[in-house]
Amino acid sequence: MEDSDDYFRSYEEMDVHYLMLNDHPRMIAYKNAIKNNAELFKNKIVMDVGAGTGILSVFCAQAGASKVFAVEASNLSKLIEKIVDENNFTDIIKVIHSKLEDIDCNTVEKVDIIVSEWMGFYLVHEGMLDTVLLARNKFLKPDGLLFPCIAKLHAVPCQIPEYFDFFNDIYDVKMKSFGDNIRREKSSKPEIMTIKTDNILAEEKILAWIDLNTATIEDCNLIGGQDLVFPCTKDGNFSGTCIWFDVEFPDGSILSTSPYETPTHWKQTIIILPNQQEVVKDEPIAFRISLKRDKTNKRRYNLEFNILNPETTEHDLPCDCFMTKCIVAKQYIENHCQ
Ligand SMILES: C[S@@+](CC[C@H](N)C(=O)[O-])C[C@H]1O[C@@H](n2cnc3c(N)ncnc32)[C@H](O)[C@@H]1O
Ligand SMILES: [Zn+2]
Repeated sequence: MEDSDDYFRSYEEMDVHYLMLNDHPRMIAYKNAIKNNAELFKNKIVMDVGAGTGILSVFCAQAGASKVFAVEASNLSKLIEKIVDENNFTDIIKVIHSKLEDIDCNTVEKVDIIVSEWMGFYLVHEGMLDTVLLARNKFLKPDGLLFPCIAKLHAVPCQIPEYFDFFNDIYDVKMKSFGDNIRREKSSKPEIMTIKTDNILAEEKILAWIDLNTATIEDCNLIGGQDLVFPCTKDGNFSGTCIWFDVEFPDGSILSTSPYETPTHWKQTIIILPNQQEVVKDEPIAFRISLKRDKTNKRRYNLEFNILNPETTEHDLPCDCFMTKCIVAKQYIENHCQ
């Protein structure tokens, strides 16, 4: 049995799709990106990569597409047939029960638009972006459109009182040693949780910017990896890093999983540190995050997190941190570049 068999079987769980269909920011972002741009879909051929329940295929048919290929590898493809029938689109939507990778280019015509909801936790978990890029290479016409077309990953230092202060007093009992143990466990893999914006310690920076029109599968083997410096915007306890993604559609509309927006089923991804460090406003925090594709399971990424010394790490210019070199550089830029 291949790894991917388990992967596709996991998508045969109705609860997974129920969760996605109940994710309002997700649903409304796709619905609006497709149906508010009906002129782009009218009489066009569309491919829905990883159609699931077929909901995006139906949006495309409702927007006026002349043909939609709903590609789904799991056995959910039988359910798509029923949903297509319920919505009277049997002559528009053609369900293809296959892995995208196994479809013969000669059996399916080139398409004007590819739609896909491929994003996993911290964007790339599940590795489904590879499938969309392959679909683009195999089936998209040269000036075709991708929905979504841009993906961005953001990172910011944060405090996580749930895994630190919480253990100071649990019903009048000190449990710091329990906190040490749970953090040791938790810091070995990313935690999926929502974070309160009060706990964000700086302005976020872009960890990765992927243009789906041009990105290659090899580009996705290493995501991030650059040194990042964050001047703190408040006093607090640096105890982890919060990561989230946005995707952008051709009309510029955005589906965001930011902690500043309505929560989605992706929540945010938090890297919990074993120990926290007190920081003050304007103090620089520096770290590097690399998401490296696993060599044995290409759907998995290994997340590496390194705290860096802000004194020896290059800061963006202008930088709002309290280090003398940054204050001087900022003053120089203000005096000479206006
Ligand atoms: C995140 S779900 C999205 C489902 C649906 N498009 C929606 O928005 O509700 C991704 C779907 O893509 C399918 N999928 C993933 N990789 C695929 C591949 N290589 N070929 C065909 N289907 C794939 C999965 O089985 C799953 O149903
Ligand atoms: Zn600085």
